Amino acid sequence: MAARGAFNSRLGFILAAAGSAVGLGNIWSFPFKVGEGGGAAFLFVYLIFCFLICYPVLVTEIAIGRKTQRNPVGAFKSLGFRRWSIIGYLGLASGVLILSFYNVVAAWSFGYVVELIQGNFGIGKNFGTFITDWVTVGLYGCIFMGATALIVSRGISGGIERAAKILMPTLFLIILGLLIYALTLPGAMDGVKFYLVPDFSKITGDVIYSALGQAFFSLSLGMGALITYGSYVSKDQNIVSAGAMITLADVGIAFIAGFLMFPLVFSQNLGTDGGPGLIFETLPGAFEAIGPVVGVVIGTLFFLLLSFAALTSTVSLLEVPTSYVVDEHGVSRKKAVWSIATVIFIIGIPSLLSAGTVEWLTNFIHLPGNFNAETGEPAFTSFMDFVGIIANDTFLPVGGFLIAVFAAWVWRKENLNEELAQGDEAIRGSLLQKYIDFAISYICPLMLGAIAVVTILDRFLGIKLIG
Ligand code: PFF
Repeated sequence: MAARGAFNSRLGFILAAAGSAVGLGNIWSFPFKVGEGGGAAFLFVYLIFCFLICYPVLVTEIAIGRKTQRNPVGAFKSLGFRRWSIIGYLGLASGVLILSFYNVVAAWSFGYVVELIQGNFGIGKNFGTFITDWVTVGLYGCIFMGATALIVSRGISGGIERAAKILMPTLFLIILGLLIYALTLPGAMDGVKFYLVPDFSKITGDVIYSALGQAFFSLSLGMGALITYGSYVSKDQNIVSAGAMITLADVGIAFIAGFLMFPLVFSQNLGTDGGPGLIFETLPGAFEAIGPVVGVVIGTLFFLLLSFAALTSTVSLLEVPTSYVVDEHGVSRKKAVWSIATVIFIIGIPSLLSAGTVEWLTNFIHLPGNFNAETGEPAFTSFMDFVGIIANDTFLPVGGFLIAVFAAWVWRKENLNEELAQGDEAIRGSLLQKYIDFAISYICPLMLGAIAVVTILDRFLGIKLIG
């Protein structure tokens, strides 16, 4: 086997994995989910899920990767469980599908940076038109995928680790600067109140489902991204504490993103409607209201932040299929990276066109049980959202469920514990180790299995279990 590469330092690994975790999920979807889900009440549920359910899966993925030093498909084979490499194949499919549409949203964000720098201050009002301009967005997407491929093609320490060491601290400085600015705006406290005042009556089954799904996606779990990164970590490193830092960094950045968003929106008396609208339509309105020079600077910095966050995530999404092709098929890294990136870009074209450019892709499918709440007419899901439902909402929890079941019951806890203790003798017999064992054996399979079942029944069969 050719040299696979490795992270040079513990910090490099933590930054790269935190880079994978911190992405569009933290800055794009987390804040408005908090707003919708009852502010601090959602946050409370979210934090519990991150630490009690996701963290054990996160260290388990890293442990499987580090033990085997292989990609997600090869990892299960090398432990002697060929059949379980289905988890790896499912992970490859998830990675390819997620990257195909994630790159489109990243392209919007990068496109906003370019537009704002050029003085196109009203871009937010033209969001709907901007995203249907497939040639322009396609070009930005091409550049974004190209940047991702360039980083991954340079290998682990020279590419992924180096990029993370530059991008993550920069991202942190930008978000801190923006946070300080946002909190000094008049009316900022109203935003903070909206963000943080708990309203426990809003905690419904739906909110719990959405919080766990969000936590899982945000930590890049269920598709072997952390098996892959873990496979480049040396045996003397403490993966239990590294995992805790990765989780903290991810939660911390998501939390700050909300502190940034709502004061900005409230200070300009703008609505808090959720989803893509909040970031790409409402926020630019807030930047415009701030005034020409400062507004452009703040707006550009914001979308640069979003683009950097997305880039360290697209890198990890591309690394998963790359490591598979390099390890299992002996293809050179450069060849593997550029061909996979091209294929994924092409797979993403229908998503690119499904934001209003092509009617049948925009209204791609009517999923059972999906009706317009007001008119009662059938509601249609776009191609891009459909891919998201398959990959994020279905494949990831199924993958996570299988990883937990595999680690606890097939590979067995003793082996998992042995790997966790490599580089951290103190973990042996500790309360934390006992908790990880318990969570991986019972809580994680149960909860992740439940989300997978709810998704399948709700989205694909129209059977509502939660409301
Ligand atoms: N964690 C990323 C985000 O929150 O945007 C998305 C992601 C990256 C999911 C890598 C899965 C993955 F393997």
